[in-house]
Amino acid sequence: MENELLALENECKNCYKCPLGKGRTNLVFGTGNENARIMFVGEGPGEQEDLQGLPFVGKSGRLLDLYLSLLDLDRNKNVYIANMVKCRPPHNRDPKPEETEVCLGYLRRQVKLIKPQIIVCLGRIAAQRLISPDFRVTRQHGEFFKKGEIYMMGTFHPAALLRDEAKKKDALADFQCLRRKIEELSINIY
Ligand code: URA
Repeated sequence: MENELLALENECKNCYKCPLGKGRTNLVFGTGNENARIMFVGEGPGEQEDLQGLPFVGKSGRLLDLYLSLLDLDRNKNVYIANMVKCRPPHNRDPKPEETEVCLGYLRRQVKLIKPQIIVCLGRIAAQRLISPDFRVTRQHGEFFKKGEIYMMGTFHPAALLRDEAKKKDALADFQCLRRKIEELSINIY
């Protein structure tokens, strides 16, 4: 499986199917435990991510790591983190629908190889594409939806929490919902 994931990553490194490919310094494929039962999906790489080739390594990433740590989750141990698009959109703009569509094929294959039981969508872009087009983060954050064999939940993007501290209380509650789902599914994170 590791080899298959590596092969997929190499395929992505040669991808120029959308204009974001030309602009990247590094592909941001994903990071974490490839056998993780829990996966997080953000929007797209920012400047730091593009420079380092890793997701969520800037300010948002530090906040995400803090929230993960509250549940004994850790990108180096028991979760996998990826994005809707694997190349940085210029000036940190939202990925365009056509860019997301092209990259979704890669994400789906990545999910099939990792086989998470839970996917947490970080922010509107991921939640609307992976859960439902009319998903409203403000109204539906913390709710679980079963899609096939996978339990999916949408919560606030960490950048939104940095912009608006008042949302942090709700985000913490979402992580408690996640904790309960992990327990309910008897997922062993240790
Ligand atoms: N924001 C995202 O959505 N993904 C990252 O990897 C970094 C910031």
